[in-house]
Amino acid sequence: MKRSLLPLFLLLGLGAALAQGAGGLWTRTCAVCHGEKAQGDRSYPGLQGVAPFFATPEGRRYLVLVVLYGKKGEAGLMPGFAQLKDEELAALLNHLKALLQAKGDPFTPEEIRQGRGLNLTPDAVKRPGKP
Ligand code: HEC
Repeated sequence: MKRSLLPLFLLLGLGAALAQGAGGLWTRTCAVCHGEKAQGDRSYPGLQGVAPFFATPEGRRYLVLVVLYGKKGEAGLMPGFAQLKDEELAALLNHLKALLQAKGDPFTPEEIRQGRGLNLTPDAVKRPGKP
């Protein structure tokens, strides 16, 4: 049983890596705080709660603003990542989407670009109500 499952996991892992191509970027950029599987780490929050946001316009806007400008709230301070490319931020959000098995279209670089130029501070980024 154990022996027969291993190749399957390897295959699934490879498939995920090919589909996302963002695993390494996630590890370097987001996993430090949110964990390899977005489960949360030490004092930092897990991201399971944002899964429904991938499927609504306000939710998607929120996710774009969080990665561009960061967020400050009860759980602490997240810096913004506006220095990354639109393609990279879209890939990171799509990696998170896959981790959470969230419904919704994949993010495009264009969707990230539309959030730029607002110069928000982390405390100005507000979580929308539950969809
Ligand atoms: C330095 C630690 C740190 C890093 C690095 C970091 N975050 Fe965060 N993140 C936080 C904290 C702290 C919060 C919660 C802020 C609050 O209390 O509202 C947060 C909140 C979030 C939220 C909103 C959660 C919610 O429930 O509304 C999302 C989405 C998110 N982060 C995604 C990311 C992504 C994607 C990356 C990588 C680009 C990333 N974070 C990198 C610390 C971090």
